[in-house]
Amino acid sequence: MQKKYECVNLSIDGDVATVQLNRPEKRNCLSPTLHRNMVDALNEVARAKCKVMVVTGTGDSFSAGMDLEQCFFEPFDDPDKFNDVNAPCFEWFTHLKSFPAVTVAKVNGWAFGGGFEIAGICDIVIAAEESVWGLSEINFGIFPGGGATWSYAHNMLRKQALFYALTGATFTGKEAVALGMANIAVPLKDLDAEVDKWVKNLASKGRTVLRKTKEVYEKSLRLTFAESMEWEMAKMWELSRETKDDWIRTALASFKKREFKPGLQSYTLTKNV
Ligand code: ACO
Repeated sequence: MQKKYECVNLSIDGDVATVQLNRPEKRNCLSPTLHRNMVDALNEVARAKCKVMVVTGTGDSFSAGMDLEQCFFEPFDDPDKFNDVNAPCFEWFTHLKSFPAVTVAKVNGWAFGGGFEIAGICDIVIAAEESVWGLSEINFGIFPGGGATWSYAHNMLRKQALFYALTGATFTGKEAVALGMANIAVPLKDLDAEVDKWVKNLASKGRTVLRKTKEVYEKSLRLTFAESMEWEMAKMWELSRETKDDWIRTALASFKKREFKPGLQSYTLTKNV
């Protein structure tokens, strides 16, 4: 399924959705229309129950952040308009953070401010080595807001986080890996193939176990060890029930017959769980 919104392209191919920010002439900066399109596109992907959603940009940019003119400068003097224009942004950023599918940011180029934030919110980031990242807010007199501080602070170590937030200095996709902002960086020419490889890996797993792995990870960060242990086991039995005990009935039954080595590969799904 392919859908073209005014500023976003959406494609859904079985278990995998790809969402492209599509304002290349404006370096995919996030306009009010693009925000509204993203609200709709993410709802569509969630409804389709995809396992993986790739977020990327068209042209040479991932995203140059908020549209500084349409989101900030133009509505600034009318607080109601300012809030109306920016509310969809908070809506889809929040949805992205708790998204049921695994979210993969494919950072193909510029990633500033809100664009940097999107990558930071996603579960996995695969970047072009040549991509350029920056918390440029300080360069025009504000600090990273609207979740951007949360996003960099939850990925980078303190010294690095503050260095980039305070100086507005840029770093490359290659450096993003050491800084904790990306999992993998490859030359731009290899980016599609690298993303496809990991998307295929993820899509070979069960939908329910992917979703619950994310949920349990996020929740466990806020619990003590003892609380987390209890929570993990409760969710484990929930998973077992929701997947009709597939981990025992199919996966471990297959292991017992020495059909696969779980340390090195995934079991073959026989049910759509
Ligand atoms: N908001 C509004 N317009 C933008 C933005 C933006 N964030 N980013 C780029 N554009 C526009 C440019 O003004 C230009 O418009 P024009 O053709 O009408 O003149 C067009 O997109 C192309 O941009 P260029 O600057 O010509 O492209 P170039 O490739 O030379 O530079 C770069 C790309 C480095 C990304 C530059 O556009 C830039 O610095 N953009 C702003 C980045 C930024 O600081 N974003 C805000 C982050 S903070 C936040 O999100 C809250």
